[in-house]
Amino acid sequence: MTDAGPITLGEVLRRSADHLAAKGCESPRLDAELLLAHALEMKRIDLYLAFDRPMVSSELDAARALVARRAGREPVQHILGEWGFRRLTLRVDRRALVPRPETEIVVERCLSLLAGRERPCVLDVGTGTGAIALAIADEQPGARVTGIDVSTDALALARENVERTGLAVELAEHDLFTGLPSGPWDLVVSNPPYVAAAEADALAPEVRDFDPHIALFGEDTVAAVARGAVSVLRGGGALVLEVGDGQAVGVAALLDELGFRDVRITRDLAGRERVVEGVR
Ligand SMILES: C[S@@+](CC[C@H](N)C(=O)[O-])C[C@H]1O[C@@H](n2cnc3c(N)ncnc32)[C@H](O)[C@@H]1O
Repeated sequence: MTDAGPITLGEVLRRSADHLAAKGCESPRLDAELLLAHALEMKRIDLYLAFDRPMVSSELDAARALVARRAGREPVQHILGEWGFRRLTLRVDRRALVPRPETEIVVERCLSLLAGRERPCVLDVGTGTGAIALAIADEQPGARVTGIDVSTDALALARENVERTGLAVELAEHDLFTGLPSGPWDLVVSNPPYVAAAEADALAPEVRDFDPHIALFGEDTVAAVARGAVSVLRGGGALVLEVGDGQAVGVAALLDELGFRDVRITRDLAGRERVVEGVR
């Protein structure tokens, strides 16, 4: 961006996207559009109708500040302060993991397994922003949903999202390694931390430097949730787990070993095996 003469919105967008691309951002044009729309308090779609409009200096300053944060690899979701998850727009910040698109598939599997059940009891282990718990409460009317997390920061953010959405989700501080809260539950769902500490260097800066490490790193958490679910699920109740790339087959074998039936693996939109489920 430059101060020399009037500069149009379209030109700011182009230069911002080039700058973000040079800084290694994965989707520079999309990010530039989201940030510019946010700075100008416009809908992203409306940017296209205003490409030729000159930007005034206060607008340029606002846009520059946001683009500079993104160039430092701060996640665009943190800069915007909110992000879409299924039908909801949730508050997101450094207190909890930014909800990911593949986790929407976890919710889809949960809804499919809950179909036809009236007032099912659902436990979301490691609720973070509350994304999974809130989406189930939203899309499965009558469900009684509880979200637990060991992080008080995450729980505070989840509480804000409960208020923001007006959905009924109970929240509680609980360490999954002490066992799961006794239900009985019709569904236990979890996207637990499953990245090995040795893989930290391979993570993108947006993840490694901005998502809470308690939400990322954990090597026995998936197995701990699966073992814990055995004693708290109702007969016929289901377990749905999000797992890391390359972990699904091992987790499916564990569910078989623990006596779950109808064990199934679902792929994410990129074709990677990321969700494992089974019925008690
Ligand atoms: C990968 S994040 C998932 C957040 C959210 N469910 C989602 O899908 O976006 C994992 C969550 O598990 C929580 N967590 C980590 N260790 C835990 C433990 N021992 N007991 C309970 N929750 C834990 C973290 O604080 C974090 O919120």
